[in-house]
Amino acid sequence: MKSTPITPPICLSATYKFASSDDLIDVVQNRSGHIYSRWDNPTIQETEKVMAEIEGYQSALAFSSGMAAISTSILAFLEKGGKIVYQRQIYGGTFELLNDFLPRLGIETIAIDCDNLEGFYSEIEKGLTILYLETPTNPLLRIVDVKPLADAAHRKNALVMLDSTFASPINQRPKDLGVDITIHSATKYLGGHHDITAGYICCDNEFVNVIWNYRKIIGGVMDPLTAFLALRGIQTLELRIQRHNDNAQTIAQFLENHKKVKIVHYPGLKSHPDYEVAKRQMNGFGGMLSFEINTDFEGTKKFMDNLKIITLATSLGGVSSLANQPITNTHAALSPEARAKAGISESLVRLSVGIENPELLIKDLKQALD
Ligand SMILES: Cc1ncc(COP(=O)(O)O)c(C=O)c1O
Repeated sequence: MKSTPITPPICLSATYKFASSDDLIDVVQNRSGHIYSRWDNPTIQETEKVMAEIEGYQSALAFSSGMAAISTSILAFLEKGGKIVYQRQIYGGTFELLNDFLPRLGIETIAIDCDNLEGFYSEIEKGLTILYLETPTNPLLRIVDVKPLADAAHRKNALVMLDSTFASPINQRPKDLGVDITIHSATKYLGGHHDITAGYICCDNEFVNVIWNYRKIIGGVMDPLTAFLALRGIQTLELRIQRHNDNAQTIAQFLENHKKVKIVHYPGLKSHPDYEVAKRQMNGFGGMLSFEINTDFEGTKKFMDNLKIITLATSLGGVSSLANQPITNTHAALSPEARAKAGISESLVRLSVGIENPELLIKDLKQALD
């Protein structure tokens, strides 16, 4: 072959033909080629190679969503009698999986406030199967100091999983912090354009086959067209993240000085409780922030409805800015008590700062607050 395409072909084939039965048996027994796209697919494998490389692990697996990545990899290592210790302040969908679904399967799940380090260490000391963390957290941008917790969990032979979606592979290196399995909702920064629903796990070879087998049976594999779009998004990831970081810092500072804003949650602000940890653990503070307005639920709704450039929508991590009220969507499934415990108030707004001109975004926020 004298030349090859510089972008990967999108291989939509669901199945693959074999020259002989012996070849087919070899692929089934040794995963030495392709047989069926729920198992493996060339376009999907291209993205997995890239993801493993950018997160610094030996392997990666692509999923149909962030939740497919999370649920499949957790189920791959937990069985009846197993125990997972997790941080209470996490994405609402993950919380529902851990708090509601897994206990029904006879799995012990223990939520600890991310401020309660003693609680983490004492639960870890009692023994556990998985330590599950998310940092920065959704939606309050708390930063968990990962390395010491991961070390403690490893001393108990537990697996450490981390959802690094908010940081993206640019702002945080979970592998260097001792994380065994790093998870991304690629729907967010990796895709980067609000046009795919996708997820990844990155890990070393000792874990990948177990998760691959579960993905094959649970079936939440990425589709090839999405894989192509994910690869395309990843090519501009570093540039986009630099702009997200800069814009979010500028906007956080503007909001912090606005009289109608009660509090701003952004790890790049000195007022943030985890500023020092973030500075040490991250390469950038990210494009996500949240803030509380000096008003009630109705007043916050009015603010949302008055935004003109920033779009009222759930999700995050794309080039255009999105705002939502966690209480009405991302964390709507939580009981009022669970929301209160997680610190999610009626006047909380979550902002995914895009890569637009920051002056335009500030103008929009200013007029909506006014
Ligand atoms: C931190 C985090 N993890 C996981 C998910 C789930 O990802 P997906 O919507 O791609 O399933 C989300 C979704 O918002 C998220 O914010």
